Amino acid sequence: MTRESALQAEERENKWMNFQRPDSFDRFGKFGGKYVQETLMHALTELESASRSLAEDEEFQKELDGILRDYVGRESPLYFAERLTEHYKCPNGERPHIYLKRKDLDHTGAHKINNAVAQALLAKRLGKKRIIAETGARQTFGAEVRAVHSGTATLKDATSEAIRDWLTNVESTHYILGSVAGPHPYPMMVRDFHAVIGKETRKQAMEKWGGKPDVLVACVGGGSNAMGLFHEFVNDADVQLIGVEAAASFPDSSNEGFCCISQNKWVRTIMQERMNNIT
Ligand SMILES: Cc1ncc(COP(=O)(O)O)c(C=O)c1O
Repeated sequence: MTRESALQAEERENKWMNFQRPDSFDRFGKFGGKYVQETLMHALTELESASRSLAEDEEFQKELDGILRDYVGRESPLYFAERLTEHYKCPNGERPHIYLKRKDLDHTGAHKINNAVAQALLAKRLGKKRIIAETGARQTFGAEVRAVHSGTATLKDATSEAIRDWLTNVESTHYILGSVAGPHPYPMMVRDFHAVIGKETRKQAMEKWGGKPDVLVACVGGGSNAMGLFHEFVNDADVQLIGVEAAASFPDSSNEGFCCISQNKWVRTIMQERMNNIT
């Protein structure tokens, strides 16, 4: 590598390392921002400043850490999948060492609880007495369930309907949005509440094999577990990030070593931008 190209590579790397996600306009590349009715702007601004100040609030963090440990059951194990590793053995005997981050062992059987308890705590701090949430899985803990028949009657429509309810009851209600979707600050906030997944993974990898993972693979619905896992490693150019979503088409997968089939455009943008900046 010539000195000039080394400098260019370093400049690209620095640019990437210093790139704020989201940027000062609350955007992730060309996605993000707040495109909602004026009535919701105050609630979103209030939510953003609460989430930023609670991130620095030791008492809040201590309470949240305690709940994550004693109620959710964190940290979740990083399990060596011996037989899966054996199954993918190459003819030359080499094999990928496959580990599973056991989010199925989080209380309720999924990572979603990290964000749910954190936002519920935040709602308490905001003095909100009513909670609404969208669900595609119907794990509702005794909540009143309202069926959504509009549009394609899927999670996306449930989310729109929840926002409609929030518009009407914004004074009393907090909307716990369950993935990295919706207007700012939700994508940032939900990602940050799940960032514990990536932090644990880095620590566990160091304990187990004294290094980093080479490849991280996460399923993408809305993108919250993927972002929770990837966020910690986004600046590690030597860690490949792979987001997998069912029934989507492959976008421009021309980048070698990069596969992202997420339909969530901002998750895709983040991974795409990362590739552009490190290649
Ligand atoms: C167990 C489980 N994993 C993953 C997902 C995908 O969601 P996300 O992409 O927000 O992590 C869901 C969504 O409902 C889920 O229930």
